[in-house]
Amino acid sequence: MKLFLDSAITDEIKHGLDYWDMDGLTTNPKHIKNSGKPFLKVIEEIAELFAGTEKPVSVEVDPNITDTEQIVEQGVKLSKMSPNFVIKVGASESGFKAIRELAKQGIRTNATLIFSVTQAWHAARAGATFISPFIGWKETYGDSTTTFIMEVAEMLEHHQYDSEIIAAAIRNGRQIADVALAGAHCVTAGLSVYQDSMQSPYTVHGEKVFQAAWDATPKS
Ligand code: E4P
Repeated sequence: MKLFLDSAITDEIKHGLDYWDMDGLTTNPKHIKNSGKPFLKVIEEIAELFAGTEKPVSVEVDPNITDTEQIVEQGVKLSKMSPNFVIKVGASESGFKAIRELAKQGIRTNATLIFSVTQAWHAARAGATFISPFIGWKETYGDSTTTFIMEVAEMLEHHQYDSEIIAAAIRNGRQIADVALAGAHCVTAGLSVYQDSMQSPYTVHGEKVFQAAWDATPKS
């Protein structure tokens, strides 16, 4: 399963590339806003960090646009800024049509805000490169996301669609494990979620036990 960072903070992105050799990046309008920089400036900086790599970077079109032609027009413009850019489009009738048009032009897309297997199927049929089911948001309202991811994966496999699942809005290490076991191709989460998932209080305890033993052992 590929590891994508969900962020638009350049220091976090540098960390993810350096420490984890992360496989790609996802951004959204909220992350861009939290970067504290203008949209174009931040995506240019991000493009530079990924230049010369094959790693996909999802950049979302203005979510206020509901007209297919305008989504496509903005998607085409964004895609010209970097070969790494994947155009993130919200799930909707016009969004799926825009994904289809972009795919026809060879532009990669990420269908975002996916909450049902049927939405995922519409995205796959339209030719989305990536499909992003939002795990944390669903679980907040009591939905089972393991079953959800398994069903999306089964639907893609059964009908031989090429789209990859990016399990998104991940809040903790258990959810990373759940989506990996359920068949997600990629996961995207924030920096601290990954850092927490690399630790365990048992590991910290174990290190202390072994350090004490090391210190108490004559070295020669
Ligand atoms: C995924 O691509 C989204 O950017 C993301 O996971 C959105 O959810 P969150 O900001 O609530 O984590």
